Amino acid sequence: MNIQENVDLLPYNTFGLSYFTKYFSEVSSLEEIKNVLNFVRERKLDLLILGGGSNILLTKDFDGLAIKVCLQGKEIIEENEEHVIVKASAGELWHSLVLFCVENGWGGIENLSLIPGCVGAAPMQNIGAYGVELKDVFVSLEALNKKTGVVESFDRNACDFGYRWSYFKGVGKDKYIILNVTLSLAKKPTVNIHYGAIMETLSLQGITQPTIKDVSNAVIAIRSSKLPDPKKIGNAGSFFKNPEIPANKALQLKEIYPNMPTYPGQNGLTKIPAGWLIEQCGWKGKIIGQTGCHKDQALVIVNYGHATGVEIVEHAHQVQRSVKEKFGIEIEPEVNLV
Ligand code: FAD
Ligand code: EPU
Repeated sequence: MNIQENVDLLPYNTFGLSYFTKYFSEVSSLEEIKNVLNFVRERKLDLLILGGGSNILLTKDFDGLAIKVCLQGKEIIEENEEHVIVKASAGELWHSLVLFCVENGWGGIENLSLIPGCVGAAPMQNIGAYGVELKDVFVSLEALNKKTGVVESFDRNACDFGYRWSYFKGVGKDKYIILNVTLSLAKKPTVNIHYGAIMETLSLQGITQPTIKDVSNAVIAIRSSKLPDPKKIGNAGSFFKNPEIPANKALQLKEIYPNMPTYPGQNGLTKIPAGWLIEQCGWKGKIIGQTGCHKDQALVIVNYGHATGVEIVEHAHQVQRSVKEKFGIEIEPEVNLV
């Protein structure tokens, strides 16, 4: 078991923030994870689980142990004419898994191309993009119960997936370390190109009968054109979730703001793009000190180089307040604050 002390978390978060953790350990096997958990238990330390650090915002030094889950491996566990069931370990890069499936002609996750981070974090918020969510291909996952040391299996129902939501953000919060995820992919895939931007990109390329590879490439092109690359500007993707409001409230707002985009949400609610609300409040491209809302995607809060986590949180609060004042809508962070 390799446990380091006083480690800078700068390389481990895409916001590009330098905060120190008291202890740090990279783990590549279940045995190592269990040993680290014993260390944590004996010293009564807090535990921070890290994948790729692309959905966290550090706001202070961490007075506990940060564990970076590096479990590797992907295997086919079942196959028939229609489907292939693939199990991937938590430390695999999500986008590498997508490319692996696309290259093999297995459809289902091509719309989720280029999402940063690791496989183990994907179920946490049921990652989604361009009309597809993880839950659409999800079969099960295995997770280590931190308290009992038992590896438990969760099927799709047990994960309670919703929009940017799972059991692991609710009742199961802070109780498990996800070890692997099993997905069902289609060997005779049908593509999902309903999201406007995908159709536009394919039609500009003159592609009328897209393959999953074409869809993956289109998604990569769209994302690269508007989402800032964390290697160049620190960010964690969408900072807030898109709010879902009662349909009648959305209709009232539509009367005042006829251009407001709306989408069907969960349970009959109406989803409004938070990026639009934030842009309407004048935040898009505005730079406040070392932070601000990105010029091409207002929903992405960025670190221009030397912001602190606290400055980013303060900026986010200002954005929330102004959206609440102008539209009467509360927007909630998607990013996990540490
Ligand atoms: P981390 O940031 O390391 O962790 C996220 C949370 O999960 C933390 O609470 C952490 O403690 C917990 N966690 C991590 N691994 C485990 C584990 N093995 N077991 C238990 N808990 C764990 N997300 C989308 O859904 N759709 C998008 O389109 C999208 N686009 C993005 C674009 C950019 C440029 C960026 C920077 C982010 C984007 N994201 C998007 C957010 C992010 O990439 C995803 O949420 C991703 O799944 C996070 O993976 P990670 O490994 O980096 O997680
Ligand atoms: N919009 C604006 N101004 C902006 C940004 C967006 O007006 O600055 C409006 C436009 O009308 C646009 C609409 O919002 O048509 C939707 O924008 P976009 O297609 O960029 O998607 P989003 O709703 O802003 C969501 C996810 C993204 C995901 C994309 C694509 C959330 C919180 N975000 O963003 O996920 O990649 O859809 O499906 O649901 C992430 O979670 O980190 C993330 C990047």
